[in-house]
Amino acid sequence: MTEHARPEPESLRERIATELVAARGRTTLLTSVVEEPDLMKQHSPLMSPLVWDLAHVANQEELWLLREVGGRAPMHPEIDPIYDAFEHPRAQRPSLPLLAPAQARRYGHEVRGRVLDLLDRISFDPAQQAHFYFGMIAQHEVQHDETMLATHQLRAGPPALAAPPPAPAPADAAWLPAEVYVPGGPFTMGTSAEPWALDNERPAHVVDVPGFYLDTTPVTNAAYAEFIADGGYDDPRLWTEDGWAHRQRAGLRAPLFWRWEGEWVRVSFGVTAPVIPNEPVLHVCWYEADAYARWAGRRLPAEAEWEKAARHDPATGRSRRYPWGDADPTPATASLGQRHLRPAPAGSCPAGAAPCGARQLIGDVWEWTSSDFLPYPGFTAWPYKEYSQVFFGPEYKVLRGGSFGVSPVACRGTFRNWDYPIRRQIFAGFRTARSGPGARTGEG
Ligand code: AVJ
Ligand code: FE
Repeated sequence: MTEHARPEPESLRERIATELVAARGRTTLLTSVVEEPDLMKQHSPLMSPLVWDLAHVANQEELWLLREVGGRAPMHPEIDPIYDAFEHPRAQRPSLPLLAPAQARRYGHEVRGRVLDLLDRISFDPAQQAHFYFGMIAQHEVQHDETMLATHQLRAGPPALAAPPPAPAPADAAWLPAEVYVPGGPFTMGTSAEPWALDNERPAHVVDVPGFYLDTTPVTNAAYAEFIADGGYDDPRLWTEDGWAHRQRAGLRAPLFWRWEGEWVRVSFGVTAPVIPNEPVLHVCWYEADAYARWAGRRLPAEAEWEKAARHDPATGRSRRYPWGDADPTPATASLGQRHLRPAPAGSCPAGAAPCGARQLIGDVWEWTSSDFLPYPGFTAWPYKEYSQVFFGPEYKVLRGGSFGVSPVACRGTFRNWDYPIRRQIFAGFRTARSGPGARTGEG
């Protein structure tokens, strides 16, 4: 089992400060590259106005770090309900009396100043949980940075964001096997040791996963375009009943942001360009991923299969923090953190490969799994049931692995994301699987 040494208090304090400052840097960039009307406006009913995310991040930081950990009195209790995600669905948020951009920035700045003071003064016993709240808040802010990046992608108008393109695929990408084999047997899923793992990743528990084959890389645009050209969107036999009903109702014909202009082009952060063939497909919903897999004679991997492929080290029997080992991600092992505005080509980051040979399990695109979002055996909601518990159930499907849009602090082999099977605005793709010889049944 993976159990690593607890960090020392001083390095913990530095790590927390580094993560908080890095998250705020990205938040500031995402909310400063567009004019005020664009911050206040709702770019899609699926998303909040950017200025809501800005103040919500500050409000959560005040609630958990200044009030809960620091025991301070509320700074502006009257605004709490406006920034409580459960009081108002996203679609209603533009009509709330939101803080104006300058007020939201000032609030965030004041909260952060007090938080950094608290961080300087607090005595950390790494065996206790105070540092978890800081880690949770750093993760919360970068999760909203990814949400705000999705809002930018939905925004109409000229480009506001730019980033260097990812490196071309390594030479061996062309001759990688299409699939890798993950032998059957038990492995440790989830974690009880990772200090900042969120409640839904806990506790560590043993799961027996029959042998299965998994795509070496995420499904590419070229492969997905073949599915389209082969009539994948017109054949109800490839879709679940709910999936076909949704495909009809929503008029799905291609991934979100794709357009046919004699060739497939797609709009990416305000720039229209031909779809890149060897790039992982992005902005498909669970129903599309599931239909593609059936067309390919395969299926989506179950969540436990995905995690076993990503973490199980057959040489030691341990589960790793990441596919490549226990070391934090670097640009060589995973494309994360909005360093690029699109996924790296399939086959990238050979240094980040898992023991089974699969690449890009961490970073580039969130990967849909076949599994519903359910608690692990022994789950306890902590520190609040609105993070995970209220979402458990069959309405949500699990996504794994993280995208180019999420920071490493909120991405690891155990991290679980979830969304409705119709959602496409998130940075989601997928890979496919098939059961191995002798497997009783693919968990499907
Ligand atoms: C884990 C990405 C589904 O964005 O709804 C942010 C993260 N929770 N604020 C979400 C979250 C509270 C959550 N996801
Ligand atoms: Fe939030």
